[in-house]
Amino acid sequence: MTKKDDDASGMRKGLTNYGDAGFSLFLRKAFIKGAGYTDAALDRPVIGITDTASGYNPCHGNMPQLLEAVQRGILLAGGLPMKFPTISIGESFAAPTSMYLRNLMSMDTEEMLRAQPMDAVVLIGGCDKTVPAQLMGAASAGLPAVQLITGSMLTGSHRGEVVGACTDCRRYWAKFRAEEIDAREIAAVNDQLVPSVGTCSVMGTASTMACIAEALGMTVPGGATPPAVTADRMRVAEHTGMVAVQVAKERRTIAQVLTDKAFENAMRVLLAIGGSTNAIVHLTAIAGRLGYEIDLKALDRMGRETPVLLDLKPSGQHYMEHFHAAGGMATLLRELKPLLHLDALTVTGRTLGEELERAAPPFPQDVVKTRAQPIYPQGGIAVLEGNLAPGGAIIKQSAADPKLMEHEGRAVVFEGLEDLATRIDSDDLDVQREDILVLKNIGPKGAPGMPEAGYIPLPRKLARQGVKDMVRISDGRMSGTAFGTIVLHVTPESAIGGPLAHVRNGDRIRLSVSKRELSLLVPAEEMARRAQEQPVTAPTADRGYRKLFLATVTQADKGVDFDFLAAAEVKGTLPRA
Ligand code: FES
Repeated sequence: MTKKDDDASGMRKGLTNYGDAGFSLFLRKAFIKGAGYTDAALDRPVIGITDTASGYNPCHGNMPQLLEAVQRGILLAGGLPMKFPTISIGESFAAPTSMYLRNLMSMDTEEMLRAQPMDAVVLIGGCDKTVPAQLMGAASAGLPAVQLITGSMLTGSHRGEVVGACTDCRRYWAKFRAEEIDAREIAAVNDQLVPSVGTCSVMGTASTMACIAEALGMTVPGGATPPAVTADRMRVAEHTGMVAVQVAKERRTIAQVLTDKAFENAMRVLLAIGGSTNAIVHLTAIAGRLGYEIDLKALDRMGRETPVLLDLKPSGQHYMEHFHAAGGMATLLRELKPLLHLDALTVTGRTLGEELERAAPPFPQDVVKTRAQPIYPQGGIAVLEGNLAPGGAIIKQSAADPKLMEHEGRAVVFEGLEDLATRIDSDDLDVQREDILVLKNIGPKGAPGMPEAGYIPLPRKLARQGVKDMVRISDGRMSGTAFGTIVLHVTPESAIGGPLAHVRNGDRIRLSVSKRELSLLVPAEEMARRAQEQPVTAPTADRGYRKLFLATVTQADKGVDFDFLAAAEVKGTLPRA
């Protein structure tokens, strides 16, 4: 982009290259006038709006109403709204896994922001990978940007019990596998788990990224929690449109909001909400676009002094609509105040601290706990190290069985997803409740795309005996809605020859969450012998996106971004000690 392009605004920005700037503008205006615009409209600041509606994405099912409200806000503030489509990713409709497409969506978002004339953009996302993809793309494009969240779905009711996607999806499916409920009941539950459009109603990845977006200062205040189908959500959308015009006029770029302090605030919030483990990968990727690296060990240290305060499933009891009724993020951020950078700038032009001063006053509620009486004394996520994961691994300790957090057991190994599907329910499987289930080849390159298969199902024969949890280890991810003693993101992954590739049935493994240890109790010489005996060849592809993906995707500790998309220069490492 030239200096001249930088200074241009509205329809004059980023002219199509015909070698004659005057003609380019003339032509552009002629075409847009074909849609009925006047010169007066075209002279306004242009605010792009990413329309991520899709029949395959019910989490974005309120998009028509959101678009209307955002456009109203933009017009009220004197801007010209221009909606345009980008890729949309619905979590349970994307094969092999939505994560495989996150970087593609980020590239689509980045390039459409660069290519089309706009002074600012409203990013509308909600389902798990969409918000990180949009923030990654917008961070690279560098425009002023405001994030709008689609909002959570409502809760349902099954036989008098409140249910919601998708912690209860997994809980009821586990009951069905264990033959505690029959086919008729599981079908009845299926009707109730998702009672409206919107994102998952527990603290899964979508809710986590919504809270993180607000903590980063990228949404309007209160933007994280209103459910999708409420008037509050529509008011947030209208306000977002108005703020987008303001950021355009004041030329407040995304880099002015996404600072080191903003990322540290987001990490605090991730730990304090018992957020999804996926958010670490996403935050790492977003920060990487702006030149910041995430130090997992420092994040773990931050976790030791950041209690989980939010009583939401899967770490606690409530759902997103209850968090919203309890005052939403303002209630949580107020409690976290001493641990936050209150001088971090937000999209409104005010600091986080100033926005908290302006928020509605606190009132008695039981969803956000105090730091003196938290849900869990440390942050929800612990970072593990050891010879099985030289590049680190993570565990969501707040959603794990305390009895299994110090555990040594015999490895029962599955070589990949197919092997798992073939053998996990076999009555012949040699497995006992004290064993450790190990799943290989579900890392970034392995599956590919690092699917959420780390929540390895309990072998049916143990489930029938009433076993509710076992230590499970993989190089994949798991849904933020899942519960269990599950070690994830083992780095380097098995598909590129990480130590996980050489674990065999019967090996002893030690997990100590208190010592942050994940050890394979096999001598180094034996591991070297196995590596020589069975060398690993990293997967490749002949063409297309898969070829690009396999050739350039990074490991979990680098955000599973494409290596060529990260910022060229490293500005620093976060969180700072
Ligand atoms: Fe879209 Fe859970 S499936 S947020």
